[in-house]
Amino acid sequence: MKVVIASDHGGINIRKEIISLLKEMNIEYEDMGCECSTSVDYPDYALPVAEKVTKGEVDRGILICGTGIGMSAAANKVKGIRCALVHDMFSAKATREHNDTNILAMGERVIGPGLARDIAKIWLTTPFDGGRHKNRINKIRTYEA
Ligand code: RB5
Repeated sequence: MKVVIASDHGGINIRKEIISLLKEMNIEYEDMGCECSTSVDYPDYALPVAEKVTKGEVDRGILICGTGIGMSAAANKVKGIRCALVHDMFSAKATREHNDTNILAMGERVIGPGLARDIAKIWLTTPFDGGRHKNRINKIRTYEA
């Protein structure tokens, strides 16, 4: 699996935490920034990450901002992206099993680095259940097309 990760200025610390998790898990990753000490605009990071995922250049994406809301809203505008904003472990598992989400968004002003790490680990390792959930995702695909 290859993962692309990015954050705005509001998500740098959790991004660093998740990069250390990816290293521990021997997961190949690309870090798309930001290298920012001042304020940046989250769509400038969410949209290139989402493009990489939807083009199949990487398997999954992880996006962090202050709330995770801006990143997830922007990523979900890109065709083929199912981005979940997750701040609990139950949803991390369920969104992989039921929604086959290909991008995880989190908010650094909402949760701490320990919970973010646990969420990311579950999200990275939980497979899609398929079955009836596939039909539901196909309805999203049909709408997008
Ligand atoms: C930046 O101040 C903040 O708006 C951003 O990190 C994010 O929370 C947007 O949804």
